Amino acid sequence: MTPAQTGPSPATLTVPPARRLSGRVRVPGDKSISHRAALLGVLAEGKTVVEGFLRAADCLSTLRCLRHLGAEIRDDGERLTIQGLGLGGLVEADDVLDVGNSGTTMRLLAGILAGQPYLSVLTGDASIRRRPMDRVAVPLRQMGASIQGRRGGRLAPLVIQGGRLRAIDYALPVASAQVKSAVLLAGLFADGPTTVREPAPTRDHTERMLQGFGADLRQEDCAVTLYAPTRLLGTSLSVPGDISSAAFFLVAAAALPGSELAVEGVGLNPTRTGALDALRAMGARVEIEDQWISGGEPVGTVVVHGGALRGIEITGPLIPRLIDELPVLCVAAAVAEGTTEIRDAGELRVKESDRIVTLAANLRALGAAAEELSDGIIIRGGRLRGGRVPGHGDHRIAMACAVAGLLAAEPVTVEGAECIDISFPEFHRIFGDVAVG
Ligand code: S3P
Repeated sequence: MTPAQTGPSPATLTVPPARRLSGRVRVPGDKSISHRAALLGVLAEGKTVVEGFLRAADCLSTLRCLRHLGAEIRDDGERLTIQGLGLGGLVEADDVLDVGNSGTTMRLLAGILAGQPYLSVLTGDASIRRRPMDRVAVPLRQMGASIQGRRGGRLAPLVIQGGRLRAIDYALPVASAQVKSAVLLAGLFADGPTTVREPAPTRDHTERMLQGFGADLRQEDCAVTLYAPTRLLGTSLSVPGDISSAAFFLVAAAALPGSELAVEGVGLNPTRTGALDALRAMGARVEIEDQWISGGEPVGTVVVHGGALRGIEITGPLIPRLIDELPVLCVAAAVAEGTTEIRDAGELRVKESDRIVTLAANLRALGAAAEELSDGIIIRGGRLRGGRVPGHGDHRIAMACAVAGLLAAEPVTVEGAECIDISFPEFHRIFGDVAVG
């Protein structure tokens, strides 16, 4: 890997051990917020301008599907300009809508399409066609939409015949922001207030952004109610850096003594900062240098100082706050002192890959002691040897294993690393900028 690399991720990525990480960097826009900005911008009336939109494969899938449904979205390379169509403005697509690898696109769009008076077919790649869609189909059917899919309606492709919806009060069986968001977005087309109750707080970007577009929404403990608006109003917003992307560098810096790394302009929504709490519990020094609010979201600069880490327990309501960061936290656990035990994280099994299986297999291949649990993983800290592992078509597994290369005794080669482009095409370049060999 040479420091000057730019552009799409290479198919094979080899990362040598680093002595430390140092520097000040920025990471690309938040993936969850970028999806929501495009979706709400199209449903609003008037113009929406989005700065910092993440131009990675998943968010580009959302733009492609929205254009197919009649949306006019211009990207001048700096900002997206969306000509809003209003709540009744999307039109029937003349073909199947392909979400690629993006679960957020499929589930949030399903919520919107459930409210449209026409037929839509949603499909995606092999990974998305294995992931559970009954979690959105069940509440959307309760609201009155007809949703069919393979395996008794549980798997994509999904065939959605939407229309005017009934408002519901829905208790989520699993803590999932995608399902919560699908129901809230369907609630835009419902005949009364829609309530979603969650077993533990999940990312609340949809709620914050709906309010930014003028919707009336009330949050109380673990329940949120949307009072179906007659219209949303276009706005301007700036997408903060993605803390899930920043985490790869922050965790590596925390585990390498002598490191001092600052990531600027990162989203610090408290429903997303569990990895910072976990790093602190592991003994790392993590500081927030400055903090401000942008587009209803807290943003700031995170500074991490490296040192010796110790193993911890990660369970309960902390899990949804760091679910996407667990792969890289497991890599840190592999070089920490003592044991790290992760439980209550069965959701890892239904991500882009079964992350309990793919993580345990890759960590073991790199010399770590990792034991699979039905709902988590136990890692006995020690040292990472290095070696060659597959990316399993899962961007976060591929990036976590690349980070393992920085912390290991020998280089790590990740095969199938092009999947990193799903969320973070600049990963290998930033990586080269901050690693001190
Ligand atoms: C996301 C929610 C989470 C997360 C995913 C993005 C979102 O998924 O893992 O990467 O943007 O709402 P779940 O809702 O399935 O927990």
